[in-house]
Amino acid sequence: MEYHSLDELAVLQQNDFIRAAIDRVGAGVVIADPEQEDMPLIYVNKGFEELTGYEAQEVLGKNCRFLQGEHTEQKGVDQIREAIHTKETVKVELLNYRKDGSEFWNELQIYTVYIDKLNQDFFVGVQQDVTKRKEAERLVGHYSSEVKRLSTPIVPVKDNVSVLPLIGNVDEERLQQMLDAVSFHVQEQKEDYLILDLSAVQVFNEDIHISIYQLNQLLDLMGTTLILSGVTPKFAMGSSPYANFSELSLRSYVSVKQALQMIGEDSRA
Ligand SMILES: Cc1cc2nc3c(=O)[nH]c(=O)nc-3n(C[C@H](O)[C@H](O)[C@H](O)COP(=O)(O)O)c2cc1C
Repeated sequence: MEYHSLDELAVLQQNDFIRAAIDRVGAGVVIADPEQEDMPLIYVNKGFEELTGYEAQEVLGKNCRFLQGEHTEQKGVDQIREAIHTKETVKVELLNYRKDGSEFWNELQIYTVYIDKLNQDFFVGVQQDVTKRKEAERLVGHYSSEVKRLSTPIVPVKDNVSVLPLIGNVDEERLQQMLDAVSFHVQEQKEDYLILDLSAVQVFNEDIHISIYQLNQLLDLMGTTLILSGVTPKFAMGSSPYANFSELSLRSYVSVKQALQMIGEDSRA
């Protein structure tokens, strides 16, 4: 290291120290110069090289858009362009491509840094690989919709008769899911009867009461009769006023078996 004074040595050592620290931050760090044509990269750290597979000398002088590819969403790119224009800090998640063509999710943050000595703004970009988190989020989304689907099992038990057992925690979202699933099912199957089995419901509340009311109206329009099962008198009394379905003139039975017997008698009559 060449130097001419102790002060100069201190500055050089400090620069080396800062460079080494930035290389080790475990993220990509790049600097782009907006005063040059097409805003090229003028610095990339080791983290960027490791993340993208490109070496510094291959990318310095280029605009960082070379990381984008076929499946990069334009919305995120538009957000960056807008933020660069207004010089506002921006954080986006973009699908980017490594040198070997493999994809990764880049959580990119860009901010402006003003350098006094040069009387100029520069853009600093920090790139984090968030592929694992994005994949986990995708899986959680997939499984939660699968769980929802499985928690509304509509079981055909006879010609034109299906049973929907209401199981587990019944909240507003579940009830909406139930209404959606039933309307889809009845449109497809044109059932004569749908038995809603409530034997696994612990407590009636207003939401369940309203949903049964809505379900009854919906099925009425579609020419399907709603029948309740699993409402024991004791349970119904304990849960009143919400378990009082008399105003809906709904038929309600102690068990699915009893409800099916009644349907059998109905169709014989
Ligand atoms: C400092 C800085 C870092 C950037 N890093 C990335 C990056 O890692 N990945 C990416 O897809 N785009 C990155 N960009 C965005 C592109 O360079 C470019 O600004 C963007 O594609 C919008 O401009 P365009 O419409 O001219 O392509 C970065 C931009 C700046 C200024």
